[in-house]
Amino acid sequence: MSTSGSFSIPKTVVLVGLMGAGKTCIGKKLAQELDLPFVDADVEIEKAAGCSIAEIFEEHGETYFRDGERRVIQRLLAGPVQILSTGGGAFMDVITRETIKEQGISLWLRADLDVLVERTARRNHRPLLQNGNHREILARLIDERYPVYAEAEITTDSAEGSAEITLQRVLAALKDYCSRLAGQEHCSPLAQAD
Ligand code: S3P
Repeated sequence: MSTSGSFSIPKTVVLVGLMGAGKTCIGKKLAQELDLPFVDADVEIEKAAGCSIAEIFEEHGETYFRDGERRVIQRLLAGPVQILSTGGGAFMDVITRETIKEQGISLWLRADLDVLVERTARRNHRPLLQNGNHREILARLIDERYPVYAEAEITTDSAEGSAEITLQRVLAALKDYCSRLAGQEHCSPLAQAD
């Protein structure tokens, strides 16, 4: 449990969303703001594998990567309360999704196609964007993934220009969610007494 200003964060906050949504950038700022550790699942996977995600995809394929991703996220969620940024496909895996739902607070950073195309154009390290037109690939992933990302407990729009605006939205949504959660816990014995 971590206490920030007027609200407590009872579980690890797990950022989900497509490549380019700003999970790492916002995750780091959020962690700083809440005085919590920040951890990036993709970085942890690379550390565990001893090579880059691009190399894992190339040498072993996506299924192997997803298995490793599942194990790493399970391990991280078993640790202390922190801010955890996950790769765009993590929440699509049914077991990873259930683990996140049980042990964390999922927060979907939703961004529109133009924002994702613009942001992912800056670097070219993502295996899923290697073969084909970024806009077409991201549009297909939006169709496939957004209905599933919508299962996250909190959804916040990733603002186009300023990370600070997104950060303030995330903080407000998180505060609201955690306050409601604390209220529910507080009220449940009374509800049962009826
Ligand atoms: C992926 C997203 C990447 C990384 C891997 C697969 C995906 O992470 O995990 O390349 O399936 O969307 P980011 O969302 O951090 O770029």
